[in-house]
Amino acid sequence: MSDDALHLSTRAGLPEDLRVGLSDFPRDRWAEPTVAEMARFWLGVHENFRRHHAHLGALVAPWREGRSDLRTLHGRLIPAVQQFLQHLDMHHRIESSQYFPAFRDLDPRIAHGIDLLDRDHDVVHERLEALFAAASAFHGAVQTNAPDAADAAARLSDVVDAMGPLVLRHLDDEEEIVIPLIQLRGAGLT
Ligand SMILES: [Fe+2]
Ligand SMILES: [Fe+2]
Repeated sequence: MSDDALHLSTRAGLPEDLRVGLSDFPRDRWAEPTVAEMARFWLGVHENFRRHHAHLGALVAPWREGRSDLRTLHGRLIPAVQQFLQHLDMHHRIESSQYFPAFRDLDPRIAHGIDLLDRDHDVVHERLEALFAAASAFHGAVQTNAPDAADAAARLSDVVDAMGPLVLRHLDDEEEIVIPLIQLRGAGLT
């Protein structure tokens, strides 16, 4: 499959040749009590990102529906966006700099998968920069009582919505490469 077809914004999942360990340790076994602590930790961190993104959407919805005002949205959304940004950026940095190189050494068959995940991080990082810019613009507009504060809120809400499918796709696909590797090869336990 071409790199374009595998781009985070277009692919619907991993191609078969990148799901190296999944047949030996399929997703329906990931809740079993014998699952490695490191794998459970990884899945827990990812679940927090899914919940956190859903929470951002839940903060935006009442404002879009006219059930909350701009200042309420600002007071809740800005800190939640800041946290999401910091945590996801940190998570990706640790993965790309520490875990991915170690995984690559452990099982060379997953090298292409790790390359793909690293490219995903670059794509998500661009979206995080857009999120930061939109959040800063909204914050500045509210602080100065700018007449276009509602437009800035709408733009931030759109950025939040647009990045969701990309982040969720990356989390799912990364798990299908990393969780079997941790469970079957003991990756990350030393
Ligand atoms: Fe990642
Ligand atoms: Fe991750």
